[in-house]
Amino acid sequence: MEIIITGGASGLGEAITRKVATDIADATIYITYSKSEQNALKLMDSYPNVRATKCDFANAGEVSDFTAKVKDINPDILIHNSYFGEFIKNHFHKIDAEDYLKSFEMNILPIIKISQQALLCFRKKKFGKIISISTAALINKPPIGASEYVANKSYLEALSKSWATENAGFNITSNCISPSFMETAFTQNMDERVVEEIKNKHPLKKLLTPEEVAETVLFLICAPQHINGISLVMNAASDIR
Ligand SMILES: NC(=O)c1ccc[n+]([C@@H]2O[C@H](COP(=O)([O-])OP(=O)(O)OC[C@H]3O[C@@H](n4cnc5c(N)ncnc54)[C@H](OP(=O)(O)O)[C@@H]3O)[C@@H](O)[C@H]2O)c1
Repeated sequence: MEIIITGGASGLGEAITRKVATDIADATIYITYSKSEQNALKLMDSYPNVRATKCDFANAGEVSDFTAKVKDINPDILIHNSYFGEFIKNHFHKIDAEDYLKSFEMNILPIIKISQQALLCFRKKKFGKIISISTAALINKPPIGASEYVANKSYLEALSKSWATENAGFNITSNCISPSFMETAFTQNMDERVVEEIKNKHPLKKLLTPEEVAETVLFLICAPQHINGISLVMNAASDIR
C-alpha cells in the first residue's frame, strides 16, 4: 500500500507517519516536508518504509515536481496534513485582502494539484482514499481572529465533499478529520492562560493529542469504502453542530 502524507515529518504529520509506519506492515509511506528536514531524515532512519521529499508549498517548482512524482508513486491513500500560516492572525478587517489570496495559493492550490494527480491514479485502479485534516474550529462559532484559517479549511472541506461525490462510483473515498485544539508548533504562540482555559472548558479536562488523531487517521485508512464524504469531528462533543 502506497501512502502519501503531506507535512509528515513534524507535528501531527509526524504522529501519523509513526502510527502508519508501525501499524501497516505492507505500507510504503511517502512524506513531504518543508522545514523539518532533520526530522524527516530521522524518520527514514527509524522506519525503512518511509521516504521523504522536500516540498515547500511556497515553491511552485517543488509543488510541480512532487505532483509529477505522485504519478510514479501511484498512491492508494493521500493524506492532506500540511498547513502554512497562523491559527489566530487578526480581526478580519485588519488583514490585507491580498493575504487571503496568498494563503489560498500556499494552502489550497498545492492540495488541488496533488489531489488531481492522485485521483487520476485512483480512478485507474478503482480504489483510493483521500483523508484531509480540517479543524473543529469550523463547528459553530469560529474563534476571533481565525478568519483566514477557517476560510481555507472550509474550502478544503468543500473540495473533500466534491471529491467524494464525483469519485464514489470509482471506489474512491474522501473524508476529513476535524481535530480540536492540540499542542503543536501551530499553536505554540498562544497565551498559556488561553490554553489553560481551553483545557478547563474541555469536557474531558484534557487536550486532544496528535497521537489520538493519528489513530483516527489509521481508522479511516482501514475503514470500509462506505464511509465517504464525512468530516469526523474530534472535539469530545464540546461544541455540537
Ligand atoms: N494544532 C492544532 O490545534 C490543530 C487543530 C486542528 C487541525 N490542525 C491541523 O493539523 C495539521 C497539522 O498541524 P500541526 O498542529 O501538526 O502544526 P505544525 O506542527 O505547525 O505542522 C504544520 C505542517 O505543515 C507543514 N508546512 C508548513 N509550512 C509548509 C510549507 N510552506 N509547505 C509545505 N508544508 C508546510 C509543516 O512541515 P515542516 O515542519 O516540514 O515545515 C508541518 O508538517 C494542519 O492542517 C492544521 O491545520 C491543527
